[in-house]
Amino acid sequence: MIVAGVDGSRASCAAVAWAVDDAKRRHEPLRIVHAVNRDSYRFSRFHAAPEPDVLDRMAQTMVAEAAALAGERQLDVEVSTEVVAGPAAVALREQAKDATEIVIGSRGLGGFEGALLGSVSLHVAGQAHCPVVVVRPDQESVRGEVVAGVDDSPECEPALEFAFRQAELRGSPLRALHAWQPPVQLYAPQVNYDPDDITAAANQVVAARIARCREAYPRVEVIEDVRRAHPVDALVAASAKAALVVVGSHGRGVIRSALLGSVSHAMLHHARCAVAVVR
Ligand SMILES: Nc1ncnc2c1ncn2[C@@H]1O[C@H](COP(=O)(O)OP(=O)(O)O)[C@@H](O)[C@H]1O
Ligand SMILES: [Mg+2]
Repeated sequence: MIVAGVDGSRASCAAVAWAVDDAKRRHEPLRIVHAVNRDSYRFSRFHAAPEPDVLDRMAQTMVAEAAALAGERQLDVEVSTEVVAGPAAVALREQAKDATEIVIGSRGLGGFEGALLGSVSLHVAGQAHCPVVVVRPDQESVRGEVVAGVDDSPECEPALEFAFRQAELRGSPLRALHAWQPPVQLYAPQVNYDPDDITAAANQVVAARIARCREAYPRVEVIEDVRRAHPVDALVAASAKAALVVVGSHGRGVIRSALLGSVSHAMLHHARCAVAVVR
């Protein structure tokens, strides 16, 4: 089951389109969900608070419109709709429990004008147990590479698995991208440091990390891409010609308590294509 969260925004329409395409590729049903949070109207001075049934009717219309959009795009995907009560982030996290993946927009109806990432998007990407795909409003690039961010932590393995599967389903090449930077101390003249050594080691990291997936997905064409750059710069650049960027929720970062690693967090803001965060 693939779940798409909708709030009537342009980004959430893009999310529904992405989700129904993926449901078709995976031969899975799609569930379209809208969460109604009545608490927003529960302060005493809000005389014009809408009647509960008005909110429900609006919600039903919203999910019905999203389902119609999905149905026009892919004729043979089973689509259901659900209106649930409560804050969207909590409701969607709950929905994620039995889902293959959850697909949401990068923004919604709230947020300030220049915002790149909505609060629901950030919460769900940081907390859902299943993979979370965040789709940008202006995204229509369906074709292109699948880019996987690879580091030397075991945390990136579920992301690699997800990325290889997507590449196979789409018949697209998979770019396994590993970016490295020398620690600043290495620039001190008294330290002996050979960039070629590090590049060779980095190449080995990538080859070792993807070995298992290469075997499991022999039909996927793999591009091993090791660069000396900041991982965010490298991944954002690669995202410009990609259909999807896949990252793990955490890497080697030191702040283990954060819900998202710094690279995943930055990709959600700055990637030019859809981003999948996989725990
Ligand atoms: N009430 C909701 N019910 C279901 N999904 C929602 C709801 N609100 C937001 N979403 C999903 O989260 C995405 C991002 O919205 P959000 O984080 O609320 O952005 P903003 O802060 O701009 O409103 C939306 O595109 C939609 O996919
Ligand atoms: Mg919102």
